Amino acid sequence: MTSTPAVAAALTSINRRVVSSRRFGPNLFGAGPFEQDNTDRSGVPTRLELCKSDEVSAGSALRVESGDLVLAVFNVDGAFFVTDDACTHGPGSLSEGYIEDDVVECNFHNGQFNIRTGEVVSPPCMIPVRIYPARVENGMVVIDVD
Ligand code: FES
Repeated sequence: MTSTPAVAAALTSINRRVVSSRRFGPNLFGAGPFEQDNTDRSGVPTRLELCKSDEVSAGSALRVESGDLVLAVFNVDGAFFVTDDACTHGPGSLSEGYIEDDVVECNFHNGQFNIRTGEVVSPPCMIPVRIYPARVENGMVVIDVD
């Protein structure tokens, strides 16, 4: 069967999406790493406005959904940081965790992450949480995603 270049390109695009969803689907066992594929693969970062900066008071976090992303926006003494909301250990939500200084404790098994770097501070977490460099523009917390 022959196909036009446009049809071939469309089929290639569909195949990429299928492969992508197979590689990065949710962990069916409820524990371990959870990776999300939020890449548009165009090579151009996408600017995302997540929330108003005054919606997140110092020492707190806000859960924000944007497209396929589920994020936690943290305010650490007036500086904003963004991580995946999902704990890398299991079903915990970091935006619902306990925050002390720049450390968030997962609300599920009490593992801890550094909010600034995503590094694990305390087990049972073993895998750092993904961070997204954040900035405030015109009162909005903004990230760029590749
Ligand atoms: S789900 Fe186990 S520490 Fe977060």
